[in-house]
Amino acid sequence: MYWELSINSGAWKFNELAFWVDAVVSGTLLLSAFFIEVLHPANVIIKVRPISELAEFFMRTRVYFVKIGYSEKPVKFLFKLNSEIRPPYHKFEIEHSKFEIRTMLQIQENVSLKNFNTFGIDASARYFVEVAHEDDLAELFMDPQWMHMKRLVMGGGSNMLLVNDFDGLVIRINIRGIEHRLNHNDVFVEAGAGEVWNDLVNYCVDRGYAGIENLSLIPGSVGASPVQNIGAYGVELQDVFKSCKAFEIATCQLKTFSKEDCKFGYRDSIFKNEYKAQYIIVSLKLQLSLIPNINLKYGAIEQELANRNITNPTIKDVSRVVSHIRVSKLPDPSTIGNAGSFFKNPIIGTAQFAQLIANFPNVVHYPAGDGLVKLAAGWLIEQCGWKGKVVGNTGTWKNQSLVLVNHGGATGEEVYSLSSQIIDTVYSKFGVLLEREVNIIG
Ligand code: EPU
Repeated sequence: MYWELSINSGAWKFNELAFWVDAVVSGTLLLSAFFIEVLHPANVIIKVRPISELAEFFMRTRVYFVKIGYSEKPVKFLFKLNSEIRPPYHKFEIEHSKFEIRTMLQIQENVSLKNFNTFGIDASARYFVEVAHEDDLAELFMDPQWMHMKRLVMGGGSNMLLVNDFDGLVIRINIRGIEHRLNHNDVFVEAGAGEVWNDLVNYCVDRGYAGIENLSLIPGSVGASPVQNIGAYGVELQDVFKSCKAFEIATCQLKTFSKEDCKFGYRDSIFKNEYKAQYIIVSLKLQLSLIPNINLKYGAIEQELANRNITNPTIKDVSRVVSHIRVSKLPDPSTIGNAGSFFKNPIIGTAQFAQLIANFPNVVHYPAGDGLVKLAAGWLIEQCGWKGKVVGNTGTWKNQSLVLVNHGGATGEEVYSLSSQIIDTVYSKFGVLLEREVNIIG
């Protein structure tokens, strides 16, 4: 089955565009006019949309919206409607014309989210849609059926706990693509929000683009990384962040945010506060460097490098060592459901800390700026006897008590209830209130 589009572009006048499409489907020739919408007459990009009598057919066969770059010559191309050419989004060039094909939005009903959240909680979504291109968001949010519906935007689903079924629209961001540009020793890398964070790390480490090697193997998507300013092993996203592009739901416009705009903090940004639920991140731009600035602040990295007799580490060495440390300490979500650190490391004032250390001289702590001290939540939890404890289908991880796990079949409520018990016991023993780091949904 294939579509053949013949476009005679030589004499186009962009206010009266029309062309014909021959659709050959199982030997039957369907001839149909397409409605063409001129999106940007200035740079001549058009979007093709099927008209109504074929709409139902298109829905069934997942036909694509097509964007066509201007060409002087007549353009003819074929694409097959088989699994190869069924990506959600696909870019290609024919005779120096640029083409973009993407699937129409497909809203599904009653979809299990089990495979879309790393906790592996079997909650379901009343409606579910996967978004592969930033333009899809405007299409979705301009539609009165969806614009006011309760919604949940998710990327890799690695920092959430689904406590109940979600009675609204779940929007899974699957915008892909990684591109880079070199400028002397600077490297600007831009990635779609739906890319897997660690794929981006590998892309950069393989090419010698330094800056995010310490953030190897953090689960989740690129789009989620600025929301919580991901960090590990002495590096935070904000150290390499250049800008991000985000879709404003209220206006259906795209906006670019600089580092200052994002107001980054420890596991925090404007997208968790003033702009909570108002924007959807569609892409991220990082500023990396061809000259590595190896960061070994975190003792365990230095030690592991020494174990391997590496004295002059490359970013690849750092990435490998960080990955090794993570794998040895943290459970792999593909076998044991989890969402990484369940709680934030609490930050307290020096007065409260003085009292605490008087009673608990071994309390693990780090300086956290003027008059503030950061405590290791994992230590506090372990001291309360929780480390490695199994409670029903859930529990804490044996090598890192800050991580709650799903041993199989756990419900979101079970995990939530365990987290409440942990908060209570840590509070009664230390007078320190733990704050959940994962997003609680429902
Ligand atoms: N500790 C214990 N018992 C435990 C866990 C930790 O005593 O069960 C103590 C140890 O003294 C250890 C210290 O706490 O040295 C710190 O533990 P760790 O190095 O594992 O780091 P963390 O503070 O618990 C943070 C991030 C992690 C990140 C690591 C490494 C938060 C909430 N978590 O954990 O991020 O990988 O540092 O940089 O900031 C995540 O956010 O999902 C995450 C895994």
